[in-house]
Amino acid sequence: MIRLGVNIDHVATIREARKVAYPEPVEAALIAESAGADGITVHLRVDRRHIKERDVTLLKEVVKTHLNVECSLDKGIQDFINQVKPHWVCLVPERPEEITTEGGLDLKKFFSEVKSAIERLKSNNIKVTIFVEPDVEMASLALDAGADAIEINTGKFADTGDFELLKDIEKLARKASSLGLEVHAGHGLHLRNVGYIASIHEIVELNIGHAIISRAVMVGLFEAVREMKEVMLLARGE
Ligand code: PXP
Repeated sequence: MIRLGVNIDHVATIREARKVAYPEPVEAALIAESAGADGITVHLRVDRRHIKERDVTLLKEVVKTHLNVECSLDKGIQDFINQVKPHWVCLVPERPEEITTEGGLDLKKFFSEVKSAIERLKSNNIKVTIFVEPDVEMASLALDAGADAIEINTGKFADTGDFELLKDIEKLARKASSLGLEVHAGHGLHLRNVGYIASIHEIVELNIGHAIISRAVMVGLFEAVREMKEVMLLARGE
């Protein structure tokens, strides 16, 4: 059955807007899980603009499903992650000025750095996924780098609604799955576009943040997670 990973970064974004102790991301994780989330995702950024080390440490203790930490190849971040040992790590590129992750990791350019980061993470029993652009070449590069999974960037499809990009996403999902990689996807997904991605059967997990936390402001977090999962399962016929 397709899984929903709920990205709770923006609960911490609201907390950091005031530099106070609330809202508490751990509380959000528990509500999301009780509403049907199959995993909790956070991005520990080098600038610590939302999620901080204490969140990752506490979430690792509390999350009952699985904790997926998105992070760059930054040495300090990698040292910390290898110590906390979340269930999954998603390697992403990071540019300090970006508003959100802008694209997939350039696996050709950073192949050896990615490969050695994966070796270290896997020696700590952490499963690794790599955030990639919908380019079919990424499947064998991710496999050769030692990844367990890829997460396909759906951001450009979400922004443009360009169905050619949907075909590229499908093509990469099929190729990666045929090579034995797990296939995840995410970025920019919301209630109206998630069905297109959830209908691709090779994709087994979607990571969704902004749309769920935005809906939560209006309808509450439990309902926002519940309805997203319902739309995903309907699209999938599960
Ligand atoms: N996947 C990755 C790798 C991301 O960096 C993000 C954003 O943190 C997401 C998924 C979720 O994107 P959104 O917040 O647009 O749902």
